[in-house]
Amino acid sequence: MIRVKDLKKSYNGTEVLKGLNLEIHEGETLVILGRSGVGKSVLLRQLIGIEKPDDGSIEIDGKVISELTGSSLYNAVKEMGMLFQASALFDSMTIEENTAFYLVEHGNPEDGRPLPKKEIHERVQEALSMVGLEGIEKALPSDLSGGMRKRAALARLIVYKPKIFLYDEPTTGLDPITAMQINDLIVFIQKKLHATSIVVTHDLCSTFHIANRIALHHEGKIAFISEKKEFSKINHPVIKEFLKNSVPEIHP
Ligand SMILES: Nc1ncnc2c1ncn2[C@@H]1O[C@H](COP(=O)(O)OP(=O)(O)O)[C@@H](O)[C@H]1O
Ligand SMILES: [Mg+2]
Repeated sequence: MIRVKDLKKSYNGTEVLKGLNLEIHEGETLVILGRSGVGKSVLLRQLIGIEKPDDGSIEIDGKVISELTGSSLYNAVKEMGMLFQASALFDSMTIEENTAFYLVEHGNPEDGRPLPKKEIHERVQEALSMVGLEGIEKALPSDLSGGMRKRAALARLIVYKPKIFLYDEPTTGLDPITAMQINDLIVFIQKKLHATSIVVTHDLCSTFHIANRIALHHEGKIAFISEKKEFSKINHPVIKEFLKNSVPEIHP
């Protein structure tokens, strides 16, 4: 269980998060919808501890991570993995080296002990096969398409089996077919690893494909949160705008 209480964050005097409250249940996929620039990435950065809120708290399984620093913060957030919008692969490393990176650097996620090369290799192969990237181990990120880079970035997370996955606009900039492959992977990972997933997006098609619950991030707060089937009934101008923009036009 993740509990976000009255979270506030400003940059240069502009308040982006204005007392945001949110609870995320274990094992669910929560999609946080919001217009561009509303503060979705800011929220994710607070959740994974890259940035500290100005006020309020974030509690993960009973630990108030927003108060932790250094190794205690690292220990609290090491079971979280974030898929950044720009994938953030290391350009000079092969896909295999990128995927192995966490295990080589930090050892066994459970106890921090170094892992034998053979086990690293097996876990890398397993992760790459889960995202459908077997056979491209020696390729560099620059050899891959945008969708494949996303999948490689996902393999790099899967390899240490996080309990919580954070996705920052996972389908933005992808064509519809590739976006659907990523949506399917998000669902598959959640089922296979029994993970909790938090996905921020402005892609309504993706939202309805992957979500258990949907929240609307609006004006620095969570304006609404509901089960997926209830969401389209909510009478809010921003949701209406999202719904209007996502209905495909039919040309006779
Ligand atoms: N590190 C930062 N320094 C200054 N302003 C920031 C910083 N990060 C985010 N912001 C501002 O906060 C607002 C929300 O940004 P962001 O979370 O990236 O939006 P989005 O919902 O599109 O992910 C924007 O106005 C952005 O300019
Ligand atoms: Mg963003």
